[in-house]
Amino acid sequence: MLILGIDTSCDDTSISIVENGKNVIISLLSSQTDIHKKYSGVVPELAARAHLEIILYLVDEALKSSSLSLRNIDAIAVTNRPGLIGSLLVGVGLAKGLSFATQKPIIPVEHIASHIYSVHLTNELAFPYIALVVSGGHTIITKVLDNGIYEIIGTTLDDAVGEAYDKIAKHLNLGYPGGPVIDRLAKNGEDNAIEYPIILLSAENKYNFSYSGLKTAAIYHTDKYIKKGKIATNENIALAFQKSAIEPLYQKVLLYSKESHINKVSISGGVAANSYLREKFSNSSDFECCMPELKYTTDNAAMVAGLGYHLFDKHKTFDYSFDCFSRVLKKYKK
Ligand code: KG4
Ligand code: ZN
Repeated sequence: MLILGIDTSCDDTSISIVENGKNVIISLLSSQTDIHKKYSGVVPELAARAHLEIILYLVDEALKSSSLSLRNIDAIAVTNRPGLIGSLLVGVGLAKGLSFATQKPIIPVEHIASHIYSVHLTNELAFPYIALVVSGGHTIITKVLDNGIYEIIGTTLDDAVGEAYDKIAKHLNLGYPGGPVIDRLAKNGEDNAIEYPIILLSAENKYNFSYSGLKTAAIYHTDKYIKKGKIATNENIALAFQKSAIEPLYQKVLLYSKESHINKVSISGGVAANSYLREKFSNSSDFECCMPELKYTTDNAAMVAGLGYHLFDKHKTFDYSFDCFSRVLKKYKK
């Protein structure tokens, strides 16, 4: 079964064709980084307009490069939540139009569930497992029961971890998106020159996260955390920030793994591209860790088409009244 996947949840326009949930025939992505970098963050109105300009060309390109036509496609899977509303509307509008014109069913797909699924594109992973989703918009620990079915165990109370990376990079004038730049700089940082706090929160928030304190410490109070005789270079700030940002992710996943007796963990979302995080989690002797290929960590439509295949039987529809939502679902049901 061939599914055409569409993701326009934020600032990347992505189109993919995936066979039987696993075989990625093509995955195309048009990045908007050049548009947003002068603002050091995504401007929603510009993002929606840029999706609109490129998306039909990407669909055309995906079909042509795969020597396929819309007739060969069995269904269209599209992200409808959570994300930037204007951006989501472009993808969902296109998906509804294609579905209506071709009489192929449409499958609305939730973005967190598809990030979680990205790991399955290149790994075999049995349920249940723990999924950590870390991106520019989300920092969520979930218990995954099946494809597209998960329970939220913990989430951030303020900033998402990727958002904290982006804001610190903005403050230091390092460019956008901040994650990859900080990751790169940290490699040349001096160990323990700066030690920011590791924010774990109190017992009632044992699975939740907070990144606004760490962000404020790194932006305004580095002087307080620098060790005697050391210098606050961008490299040293990047390394110290990275260590304090990743540690709570590890500790809370470990705590939940112990309490739930589930020792398989997946990590997905843009921050799963982080080299320090990948090393720390994959070297863990506490649990087994699985991550997507680097190209499937950030937003992509292959994970949407892949999950769409598994949702086909129960979620496919010709009812075009479904909407787009900026918020994550509390519980995603099949
Ligand atoms: O999943 P994604 O593409 O979009 C959302 O759904 O938010 O994630 C984008 C986020 C950005 O905040 C970006 O700075 C972060 O992922 N990111 C990284 C790295 N690569 C991307 N953060 C840390 N280290 C990286 N190597
Ligand atoms: Zn995402």
